[in-house]
Amino acid sequence: MLLVLFSYHHATAQSSQAKLPKGGKKISDHLFGLFFEDINYAADGGLYAEMVQNRSFEYNPAERREWHPLSYWEYIATGFSYGRISVATDKPVHANNPHYVVLEVEHIYNSAGAVGLKNTGFDGMVIKKGDSYNFSVFGSLLSKEPVQVKLQLQNSKGDTIATGTLEINAAGWKRYETILTASAEADSAVLSVLAVSEGKLALDVVSLFPQKTFKNRTNGLRPDLAQLLADMHPGFIRFPGGCLAHGDGLGNMYRWKNTIGPIEQRVEQRNIWGYHQTAGLGYFEYFQFCEDIGARPLPVLPAAVSCQNSGGTWRIGGTGQRALPKNEMDDYIQEVLDLVEWANGPATSQWGAKRAAAGHPAPFNLQYIGIGNEDKITPEFTERFTMIYQAVKAKHPEITVVGTAGPFPDGEDFTKGWRLANQLGVPVMDEHYYKEPEWFISNQYRYDGYNRDSGAVYLGEYASWGNTMQNALAEAVYMTALERNGDVVKMASYAPLLAKQGFTQWKPDMIFFNNKTYYLTPNYYVQQMFTANQGDHYFDGVIVKDDKDSLLAGSCVYNSKSGDVIIKLANAGQAAKKVKIDISRFHTIFPGASLTSLQADTSAVNSFESPGNVRPETGIVNVAKKFDYTLTPATVVVIRVSTRK
Ligand code: AHR
Repeated sequence: MLLVLFSYHHATAQSSQAKLPKGGKKISDHLFGLFFEDINYAADGGLYAEMVQNRSFEYNPAERREWHPLSYWEYIATGFSYGRISVATDKPVHANNPHYVVLEVEHIYNSAGAVGLKNTGFDGMVIKKGDSYNFSVFGSLLSKEPVQVKLQLQNSKGDTIATGTLEINAAGWKRYETILTASAEADSAVLSVLAVSEGKLALDVVSLFPQKTFKNRTNGLRPDLAQLLADMHPGFIRFPGGCLAHGDGLGNMYRWKNTIGPIEQRVEQRNIWGYHQTAGLGYFEYFQFCEDIGARPLPVLPAAVSCQNSGGTWRIGGTGQRALPKNEMDDYIQEVLDLVEWANGPATSQWGAKRAAAGHPAPFNLQYIGIGNEDKITPEFTERFTMIYQAVKAKHPEITVVGTAGPFPDGEDFTKGWRLANQLGVPVMDEHYYKEPEWFISNQYRYDGYNRDSGAVYLGEYASWGNTMQNALAEAVYMTALERNGDVVKMASYAPLLAKQGFTQWKPDMIFFNNKTYYLTPNYYVQQMFTANQGDHYFDGVIVKDDKDSLLAGSCVYNSKSGDVIIKLANAGQAAKKVKIDISRFHTIFPGASLTSLQADTSAVNSFESPGNVRPETGIVNVAKKFDYTLTPATVVVIRVSTRK
C-alpha cells in the first residue's frame, strides 16, 4: 500500500457535478483493448476450458506428422478383458466431424474388467477437490444389448479421484452426459471411458468441462484466465487473429460460419501455428465473452486472400498469398454480410435466428469489422478488399470497417495499404509493428503528425521485443502518446495476449500460463494500468516536463462517465524525475486520489517461479490543483483524481 502526501494549494472538495473544462480534445473512449489470437495454445488447451484433447478424433498428420485420430488417446483393456478399437468415418455424428471411434468389447472377464480409452488431456488435467465436471459424449449402440460405461478420473499415481456411469442404449447418435465430482486434487489427471459390459458402440466428441467456467457458461472459458482479461476492462476484443484469421492457404482461412452452432457440427481444422483448432471457442463464444466483460467485439475476417506466408514462405518459399477465385466472391461477400445479420439482426432473421438458437436472442451490438490481417497489398488483395468494403458500406453503413496496412510501420505494404484506404475512404486502418524498446521511445511522436482528415488508426498489434520492465516502460511511454493522439488512434492492442508454457510459438506475450496457474508480465501490468483507466477527452498542458527528455512521458485524460481526471506518467530513465501537474482547469477536485505505481529494475521480469517480482502497488496520493510529482527511475504511475462526490 502506497501513501504519498503532498502539500496542496487550493483543492476544493465540492459535491457539484463538474463541467468539462474548455480545451479538452475528444478522444476514443475505447482506445485500449485486447488482441486475442489462438497462438501459443491460447484457445484449445488455454482459455477454452475443454479438458479433453482431440475430443472428436480429428487430429491428423497434415497438422503434425506424428498426429492421427487417436493421438492423446490410449486403448485400455483391464482384468483379462479384451476387445478392439478402430476409427471409422462411414456414419459420422455430422459431416463436419468425420472421424469417430468404434469400440468392440469382446470379453469382459470379471467385475474388475473393462475395455476402453484413456485421454491424457493437454498434458494432463488439473482437477480440484470437491469441484464437479460435466462429462458428455456422443454414443451410438452398434450391438443389441445396451453397453454399460464407467468413467473415471485418475491422478498420476493411478488413484481414482472421480467416477461416473452411463448406459449407451440407443442405435444412432445420441448425446449422453453425467457429472463427475472430484474427491481429491490432481495436477495431471487422465480421463478413462471404459465399457464394462460386452457389446459394440461408437463414440465421438468426448468432452469434460469444469462446471466452474467464467460466469458459469456452458462450453465456457477457464475462469482464472478469463478473469485476468476482464480485470483489464478492455474497450474491445479483436479476434480470432492475427495470421490465424487469413490462414495458411485458402483452405485454412478462418470462416466464421464454421465456428458457430453445436460443437459437434463445427469444422475443426489445422491451426496456422502448428496445432489443431476445434473451433469450440468460436464466434458465439467470442461475442459472448465480449458482452460478459463489456468489450466491443472486433472480429477480423479474411479479405478473401490467405496469409502471404502460407506454406511456410518465411522459411522455404511456400505458396504465398492465395486469392479466392472471382466466381466465389459473391458467396464470400455474402458470408461477411451475414456476420452482421448474425450479430445484430433480429432473432427472426435467417442469421439472427442462429444466434437466438444458441441462446442469445438479443443482438450483440457489433460496430466494427476488420477486413484482412496485415496482408500483402497485391492487385488480388486490392480488388477483393474493395469489393468487400464497398458491399459492407452499402448494406451496413452503421458498421465501421477496419482495413489493413501491412505487417510493418512503414514500407511498401504500409504505403499501398494507406493509399488504397484513402482512395476508398476506409474509416479505420490496422497498423502492426513489433520493435525494439528504443524504437517505441524514439517513435513516440509518430501520430502527432498524422492527417486528421483521412482514416483513423487501429494499432492492432504492437509490442516491444521482450517481457522485461524495460520493454514495459517503453510501451508505457508510447501509450501516453497514443492517448495524446486518441483523436486519430481509435484503438490499440498489445499482441500476442496468451502463451502456454512449453507450447509457445511467439514471444514476447502478455500472459504466460500452464494448466494450473499463470504469471503476468510487466507488459500486462502496463496494459492493465492504461486499459482500466481510459478517458474520453485529452487535456494538453496538464503535465509540464522537460520536452527534450524522451524517456519521460505523461498524459492526462478525463472520463466523463466517472468524472475522474486520470494522469499517467512513465519514467523510462535511470534517474528520478520531477514533473509539474496543473489540473486547476477542473473546477472541483478531491484531494485523495488513487495511485497505482509500477516500479522495478529495467531488467526485472516475472516468471512462474517469481510471479510477483514486478507488480503494481496501489494507494492514495494527496493531490492539489497544482502539484509536483517526482517519479522514481523505471516507474509507471496512474493517478486518478475524482471530480465528483
Ligand atoms: O501476434 C503474432 C502474429 O504477428 C500475428 O498472428 C500476425 O498478425 C503478426 O505477424
